[in-house]
Amino acid sequence: MNPAWTLASKAAAVEAALNTLFCEPEPTPRVRLNESLRYSIVGGGKRLRPVLLLSFAELGGCDMDAAMDFACAIELIHTYSLIHDDLPCMDNSDLRRGRAANHCVFGEAGAVLAGDGLLNGAFELMLSSTSPIAAEYKLAAAAELAAASGRLGMIAGQVIDIENECHRVSPTAADLTQLCRLKTGAIIRGACVAGLKLAGVTDPEKLGAAARYADALGLAFQIRDDMLDVLSSAEAMGKSVGHDAENGKVTFASLLGIDGCRAEVDRLTDEAVAALEVFGGDEFLAGLAEMMARRDH
Ligand code: IPE
Ligand code: IPE
Ligand code: MG
Ligand code: MG
Ligand code: MG
Repeated sequence: MNPAWTLASKAAAVEAALNTLFCEPEPTPRVRLNESLRYSIVGGGKRLRPVLLLSFAELGGCDMDAAMDFACAIELIHTYSLIHDDLPCMDNSDLRRGRAANHCVFGEAGAVLAGDGLLNGAFELMLSSTSPIAAEYKLAAAAELAAASGRLGMIAGQVIDIENECHRVSPTAADLTQLCRLKTGAIIRGACVAGLKLAGVTDPEKLGAAARYADALGLAFQIRDDMLDVLSSAEAMGKSVGHDAENGKVTFASLLGIDGCRAEVDRLTDEAVAALEVFGGDEFLAGLAEMMARRDH
């Protein structure tokens, strides 16, 4: 791994590629569809998932530029999930990535449709990618991302989370772990595994190690998110905070307490780093896990 490719520079490369999307004229002059898509996708977000995809692609021997369409695709899927997550019928949050949530600017119907547009856009990008990667590797990576973000992955997690929020169930720590492995972990796992698959890696030991790294990182990431919902401010996070407690929602923060969360994040981060041994270690990916464990936004 080239140490010059820091998280910031990889995220900047993703940002530049995202910035080329949805630049066509609007379908009719009075419609603000592309404006809405670009509003949510350009200029915000840590770009963790695309950076993971690019890094695992590189670990498998694939050129990062060749993997960029897929990196953008996963960010489109993630961003659609955030637009829908913020809707009044879901988390009812009005701040995202430091600005008004999509539905506050483009209306609720507009936000639903923007999410739909990003999701379809992701598959359009992957299925029409002309990058110099074998078609079978592209197909394997696209299938991985479809499953990770679909009804057995992220969407299942969001459904269970909404049940939780509506107090129809009262989750235990084990329930919460399962829920977070789906709502947050599945896409993170998809990013890591799809990156390797894009590089043509089929070795089950390597694919399993990527999944273990991602599972540990993904769970730590959501526990940290729950902690920050209690500890941080809307200004620092760029999104609404305090919602979980206000809604009486059971989260890792309410179940384990802040110190308990911190210990769990540390344990999971060690687990993520240990999983990289199969690859002979990876300084960047190990550092990324550590950075995410201490993140403040
Ligand atoms: C927010 O994800 C949703 C969670 C899974 C906690 P991020 O914290 O990666 O959000 P962005 O992409 O940086 O805005
Ligand atoms: C959302 O989890 C995860 C998604 C699949 C979008 P949260 O609801 O905790 O995410 P934030 O805190 O709004 O970013
Ligand atoms: Mg939510
Ligand atoms: Mg939310
Ligand atoms: Mg949250």
